Amino acid sequence: MNLELATAGESHGPGLVAILTGLPAGLTLDRDAIDDDLRRRQEGYGRSPRQRIEQDRVEVLAGLRHGRTLGSPLALVVRNRDHKNWTWGMSPWPPGGEPQGKGTKAVTLPRPGHADLAGVQKFGLADVRDALERASARHTAVHVAAGAVAKALLAQIGIEVRGEALPEAGADPAAVDAARKDRDTLGGVVEVRARGVPPGLGSYARKEDRLDARLAAALMGIQAVKGVEVGDGFALAQLRGSEAHDEIGTNRRRTSNRAGGIEGGMSNGEEIVVRAGMKPLPTLMKPLASVDLETGEAANALVERSDVSAVEALAVVAEAAVAWELARAAREKFGGDALADFVGSWRAYVERIS
Ligand SMILES: Cc1cc2nc3c(=O)[nH]c(=O)nc-3n(C[C@H](O)[C@H](O)[C@H](O)COP(=O)(O)O)c2cc1C
Repeated sequence: MNLELATAGESHGPGLVAILTGLPAGLTLDRDAIDDDLRRRQEGYGRSPRQRIEQDRVEVLAGLRHGRTLGSPLALVVRNRDHKNWTWGMSPWPPGGEPQGKGTKAVTLPRPGHADLAGVQKFGLADVRDALERASARHTAVHVAAGAVAKALLAQIGIEVRGEALPEAGADPAAVDAARKDRDTLGGVVEVRARGVPPGLGSYARKEDRLDARLAAALMGIQAVKGVEVGDGFALAQLRGSEAHDEIGTNRRRTSNRAGGIEGGMSNGEEIVVRAGMKPLPTLMKPLASVDLETGEAANALVERSDVSAVEALAVVAEAAVAWELARAAREKFGGDALADFVGSWRAYVERIS
């Protein structure tokens, strides 16, 4: 069975849930390593005060015994600590009693750049909150927890994945300070590198097997990501073929890595390098023009507590997304119900091709 991930959870609901299926039995997980990634996601210059409220921690409800996977579905929960301020507004059941706390009034001012307007139109909703709560990037927390599990699996076959924000735009503290002063927001670019990936993950056989397509989809699946590059990406389009490719040495290694470790839809044994471009965050303290859905009159968009920049957080979320997709590709290639079968299959393959 292949690795699959299902998640649920609203931004201010009781919590976020992930169910991971297809993990081999016998993988040791480190709770601190998962919590450490959750903490990294909450850091970064330009985040809102909500990050101080949340301090995410993972809980495991199923699939793990004494720190080792059982080969059964792994169920993870990250509670929304902020839910205590929204118990009436985000109660899963009809709340009863007097409205109290946050989220008690319907939101009718859709924010440009968010799922707000198309979301209420598509699902026939009267309250924009019914769309924005799930569309929010809050649930990337549980994707980061799943990514930490994927990284633990990849470490067993010598693969290491790391994401970082490029030091520009929303990852530049001076630019963030200036944007905050102007009640504006920023985006930016993150880069994820994966070392130790053997040749042959992914395939050229079908377009949906291509590793570059899968990584691009994984990254575009993250809120606010509007562009993805593999290796030198768009810059390659300006070069001649003689300048753009990575020549092969007698040791079968390359002296350059413009392809970012992927050729023909497969890893080629070099470091995998992908980048994702994030649009500026769309909730502005200086709101953009919108319409009041109740009155039909022109109005300013909803102003809700929001980050100035979340590029550093995106680096962690993108790292998790790449790790998850590489773990899926590795599970497809090496299989195994027990971790030892998975690792043994990888070892035999690496010996055969070396
Ligand atoms: C980690 C992370 C944190 C984010 N935080 C915010 C935020 O505080 N305010 C905001 O307006 N958008 C935030 N966003 C971006 C929105 O979720 C995103 O712009 C929105 O979902 C619409 O983007 P889309 O068109 O790509 O779905 C964040 C995105 C990520 C990945």
